Amino acid sequence: MSTKYLICSLFICFIGYNQIAAQSSPNTKESKVSILELPALLIAKDGQKIDSKEDWEKIRRPELLKIFKEEMFGNVPSNDIKVTAEEKIVNTNALGGKATMKEVVFTFSINSHELKATLLLFLPNNSPNPTSVFLSYNFDGNHTIFPDESISLPNSWMRKNTNYGMTDDTASPLSRGVKSFRWPVLNIVNRGYGLATMYYGDIDPDFDDGFENGIHALLSQKPNKSEWGSLATWAWALSKVVDYFETTNTIDHEKVIVMGHSRLGKTALWAGALDERYAMVISNDSGCGGAALSNRKFGETIKAINTRFPHWFNDNFNQYNDQEEKLSFDQHQLIALMAPRPVYIASAKGDRWADPEGEFLSGKYATPAYELYDLKGLDIAEQPPVNQPENSGHIGYHIRSGKHDLTVYDWEQYLDFADKHLDGIKN
Ligand code: GCU
Repeated sequence: MSTKYLICSLFICFIGYNQIAAQSSPNTKESKVSILELPALLIAKDGQKIDSKEDWEKIRRPELLKIFKEEMFGNVPSNDIKVTAEEKIVNTNALGGKATMKEVVFTFSINSHELKATLLLFLPNNSPNPTSVFLSYNFDGNHTIFPDESISLPNSWMRKNTNYGMTDDTASPLSRGVKSFRWPVLNIVNRGYGLATMYYGDIDPDFDDGFENGIHALLSQKPNKSEWGSLATWAWALSKVVDYFETTNTIDHEKVIVMGHSRLGKTALWAGALDERYAMVISNDSGCGGAALSNRKFGETIKAINTRFPHWFNDNFNQYNDQEEKLSFDQHQLIALMAPRPVYIASAKGDRWADPEGEFLSGKYATPAYELYDLKGLDIAEQPPVNQPENSGHIGYHIRSGKHDLTVYDWEQYLDFADKHLDGIKN
């Protein structure tokens, strides 16, 4: 090989490598974000301008919901999944007598195939009955959110974590209470709210298993390209929990707040869009596929999320990998699907991967949907300063200091936001 040829080849390799690196490494520089080109919120597909809440509810909202179902989260296939819920009181004297702890075992079944999932409930003993509850999935099992020997360990798939004594994919008693820093149960109960939480892996294990496990496995057919991925199964099962709430007299089913962190924040938003029974929706650091605008291509992109987590969205969503400009929808429209219900979006300064600015902007650009109801959304020009929540409208927002996480500070803002908005709902 001639020296000239070798130098030339090395040069071509170098250029090629840089191009690949530029494409695959996420952008975390604001200066590199192109001018936003967002799909219109209040113009229907046929060009009609939406200027009343009636037209929003009859035309645009259903149209957007359909797009998100078909192009991103996936339709729920027609199914005959039967759901039953069996309640058992674990402790009427929890938290020093302040709360009653219950477990509700849900059975999802078709013929002889069944799946079990356990909801853990803390209901305040000294609050007016029925109580408003926060409903949220947890990442690591109900037993990790509070150190109490009587909380059942999940039997379903668990992410191996040797720090918590989990050497295979099953739960370990050594992990009791290890995530309690994310769940200030006493504060929640002291403020008069209940907490209902379920381990998300009970519904669908969070790995690419070819849809062989969890809820998907109950159905004889694998999802087609427009049908549900894991996020949609998690959102679907939350609605089944609300069905159960409607049968009890201890929980105020008109004051259920759906909340989630990160991938479970994406789930909470999708659950809130699908099921208008939630009185309030909260997204904590939900990022790409949640509150963050995809069009900004900042931090995690559609390609990055679909590559690492191919089971989260439906297959149709893959067509937008590196093709964000082809999107006829974006996440501000997902936020708008909550209108007129209060919605709260939270970011963390150190969570660049989730694009805090993009999370803020989706709240800002969802605001016109709230204005159709004469409600204030997130009507501010710029992201508020760190640790200075903006909660004066029906779209709340904060960016706190620190990293990607769910903290007591976040919970305090949610409790304040709930106090502010849910008192107005009938009791
Ligand atoms: C990854 C993923 C995010 C997700 C997060 C989480 O970082 O890329 O999209 O939100 O995990 O769920 O913790």
